Amino acid sequence: MNITPKEIEDYCKEFSLQDTELLSQLTTKTWETEEMPQMLSGSLVGGLLQMLVKISGAERILEIGMFTGYSALKMAEALPENGTIDCCELIEKHINTAKSWFNKTKLGEKITVHKGAAIKSLDKFEDQTYDLLFVDADKSNYPSYHKRGLSLLKVGGIAIFDNMLWSGTVLEPSDIDAIALRETAELIKNNDRLEPLLIPIRDGVMVYRKCY
Ligand SMILES: C[S@@+](CC[C@H](N)C(=O)[O-])C[C@H]1O[C@@H](n2cnc3c(N)ncnc32)[C@H](O)[C@@H]1O
Repeated sequence: MNITPKEIEDYCKEFSLQDTELLSQLTTKTWETEEMPQMLSGSLVGGLLQMLVKISGAERILEIGMFTGYSALKMAEALPENGTIDCCELIEKHINTAKSWFNKTKLGEKITVHKGAAIKSLDKFEDQTYDLLFVDADKSNYPSYHKRGLSLLKVGGIAIFDNMLWSGTVLEPSDIDAIALRETAELIKNNDRLEPLLIPIRDGVMVYRKCY
């Protein structure tokens, strides 16, 4: 899944802010017990999320795709006292695992989990606005997450989409996921209201700012 060679990624990790003890434990346990531990975003994408939360002063975050809770906790660490995160997650097992980690820290009080297909959960948020959106769920729905998420994002807000290079297959997309990711990138590029930056960290991270 990674675009950069492992040695380069390890070097970047070595010279970046390290995970807290709780996040290290969550990562180790996820790799030991989950069928698809590679879904965990990890400390470089997580570090970028934290940095964006801190420098943007985000208070209200929406996450689509929570898994065992790594990225939610990583962002929660960067939130101010009154900050909150709404997390959408489909699989009950992941919700139970993530909640068991959230319960180990006061930061967990900032996180509300919404069970079920994210597209349905988004209907519940129609009267809400968010400062920051992180999308990391089923790739075929990325175009919808982008369109729906953008309408919930405040002007000046930031959106982050993980796996936007999909192992490089977006260059000549042939499967449904690569096609959807390419479509998402085109939608973002062709929207004058957005300032996008596609970064080749891990499997590709698209960041955009909603400028008006
Ligand atoms: C790549 S993982 C998320 C990783 C997480 N953000 C992290 O950094 O550890 C994708 C998650 O999205 C969830 N998911 C997949 N389809 C979904 C859907 N339609 N609605 C909500 N969650 C979904 C999966 O169950 C999985 O837990």
